[in-house]
Amino acid sequence: MRHDHDADGEHTSSRRAFIRTTSVGMTAALVATSAAGASLAAPVSPVQEARAAGRPLAVTPACDGHETPAATEGPLFKPQSPERTDFITPAVSGVRLDLSGIVYDTACKPLPGSLIEFWQCDQNGDYDTAGFSLRGHQYTNSRGAFRLRTIIPRDYWGRWGKRAPHIHTQVQAPGGPVLVTQLYFPDDTQAYGRDFAELNASDRLLNRACTITLAGPQGGGYTGAFDFVIQTTAT
Ligand SMILES: [Fe+2]
Repeated sequence: MRHDHDADGEHTSSRRAFIRTTSVGMTAALVATSAAGASLAAPVSPVQEARAAGRPLAVTPACDGHETPAATEGPLFKPQSPERTDFITPAVSGVRLDLSGIVYDTACKPLPGSLIEFWQCDQNGDYDTAGFSLRGHQYTNSRGAFRLRTIIPRDYWGRWGKRAPHIHTQVQAPGGPVLVTQLYFPDDTQAYGRDFAELNASDRLLNRACTITLAGPQGGGYTGAFDFVIQTTAT
């Protein structure tokens, strides 16, 4: 069933559920950082991978201290998602995306133990509102790095019109405010036979500053990079 009700314009209080209590959150963060350290062992830079493979890739700009722009949360965030770095299941058959990056503060210091929530629609443009397919949270490792195995989402029609493919994200340093934003894809992305340039140009909510740097396609999928720069204290 296609869900056409992603208004992407409603700011619900559900994001408050994303904020864990300090004591529990810190404990969880420490455990998760340790666990993530194993699963995220030596996350490979997409730039390094592309260079090793002889593939061209625009170099991800170094952290310049400019905070990642916020975007509307939309109505389809679900709290209590599972902790995981891999969204690939038998039901998920879209164009693969191996996304990684670093979470920095505005002084460009990496932020270990930062909580990152991802949620997105599938290869058909559908969000899983009954379960948690293509939804999950994770913590950055000791170097502030994250990695997510997922797919490129498809475009869909919502209350705000045609939405270009995007991944919803919330990022929060331990004890800090929550950044809510959306990540987009370059105009030359090849997936589902769609014209990403046209889709991006038609999306009224799109922010080019939140475009993932992609390498590929190779082996049927893309490698992507996106670094977040977030506040660590409420302003
Ligand atoms: Fe959406």
